[in-house]
Amino acid sequence: MVEIKNLVVVGAGQMGNGIGQVALMAGFNVLLVDIKDEYVDKGYANIKEGMQKLETKGALSDSAANFMAKCKKSIDLASAVKDADIIIEAVVENMDVKKQVFKTCDDNAPGHCIIASNTSTMSITEMANATNRQDKCIGMHFFNPVPLMRLIEVIYGEKSSDESINLAMEFAKKLPCLKGDRYIAKVLKDRPGFIVNRTTAPVQIYQNYVFDLCAEKGISWKALDNDTRGPMPTCVLADYVGIDTIYHGLVYYSKTLSPDFAPGKVITKLFNDGKLGAKTGQGFHDWSKGRPQPDRSAGKAKLMQLKYPIAIMVNEGCRILEEGITTSWEVIDNALMAGMNMPGMMAPNINNSAKQVEVLNELVEMTGKQYFTPCELLKSEKWVEMK
Ligand code: CAA
Ligand code: NAD
Repeated sequence: MVEIKNLVVVGAGQMGNGIGQVALMAGFNVLLVDIKDEYVDKGYANIKEGMQKLETKGALSDSAANFMAKCKKSIDLASAVKDADIIIEAVVENMDVKKQVFKTCDDNAPGHCIIASNTSTMSITEMANATNRQDKCIGMHFFNPVPLMRLIEVIYGEKSSDESINLAMEFAKKLPCLKGDRYIAKVLKDRPGFIVNRTTAPVQIYQNYVFDLCAEKGISWKALDNDTRGPMPTCVLADYVGIDTIYHGLVYYSKTLSPDFAPGKVITKLFNDGKLGAKTGQGFHDWSKGRPQPDRSAGKAKLMQLKYPIAIMVNEGCRILEEGITTSWEVIDNALMAGMNMPGMMAPNINNSAKQVEVLNELVEMTGKQYFTPCELLKSEKWVEMK
């Protein structure tokens, strides 16, 4: 088996620098690549800041400076991958750009090198088809922020070899997480959104409906954020992930899963106005003074009802099982917890399928979105046996 020493991370944005940091912490050599010096410098500076924070806390086995000595930068992808053992691309969520990156990597990296995509939604197989090494192309999907979120999904493209997947799983297990043990989920089928994002994807259809309703009624986003509780309120999380990532994801799902996923008016306007969330300082909220804090004085919008996302996620979990993306609902629940600090919805609903079918039918009626129609596996209740 190939020994992985050298990682190249393509795209030094919020995900790329998180991936770079945890790989450095594990002792790998990391080369960060972006298209402009200022982007690669910013990614490098973020990693350095994170490492220095850990050094101050006494959480590193060596000095931050010694770890950073293993981190290099480049804006020339072709030469950067010459000694790579594994490449992880984390560029914008755009298939054409990703295919071009895969091709350049394939043309210039050593024959043994694995090429992985951190795409949130898109087909690994399509990216692999831009190369002459489909067996060595896989998905490695990290969660934001990478140093704090435990999950990594390792994804089979149609032609990925077991050897490549196993190598990536071993590599993934070595990457530390600051908040507990890594959980590595094997994703057996290359389907849009994989496990966690697929589970939550149709919740975004409902969220789009609620965002647009909230705007129509002139209710504030702070009030909408007070409708639910969780590690991050709805609008804060959307800003944190990035409005561009969400927008591109919805467009992709609308082409691959159902037109019901088309981005709503609010998301489209934010995207077109360049209000991309934390990364641009403005999205739903103003981020210029850091992460927005809950404002209880704004009251509640009373638009977002938790019973709907729960039913939607149980239904989607059943679709994931139907499609063979994983064979176990426990994996779906574990992945949700490790990737979003959100309890999975399958276990709490093992005796509740009929009730969720009712809620979904009500939702179809309310929103007119057929995608919420309960699937066969949920109706039959047979998913419960797929533990
Ligand atoms: N390096 C070193 N230390 C770091 C660090 C880094 N890079 N990043 C954070 N830290 C430290 C912080 O300084 C802080 O240290 P102190 O406790 O000493 O102050 C500590 O880690 C905890 O950081 P936070 O205070 O920011 O943590 P928190 O308790 O507020 O939790 C959170 C933050 C874990 C992100 C939590 O809000 C959460 O779980 N949010 C949900 C996030 C989520 O859902 N992510 C998934 C999005 S979907 C996705 O990613 C997939 C996709 O394809 C779109
Ligand atoms: P980002 O905008 O912060 O960073 C993307 C970086 O890629 C930018 O610095 C950009 O300059 C660079 N880039 C663009 N084209 C490039 C090219 N041809 N070569 C090299 N670099 C290039 O985006 P992000 O949030 O880090 O997302 C990156 C990827 O990770 C996307 O595919 C996204 O869907 C996925 N992802 C995002 C999250 C999230 O929560 N943000 C979570 C998981 C996965």
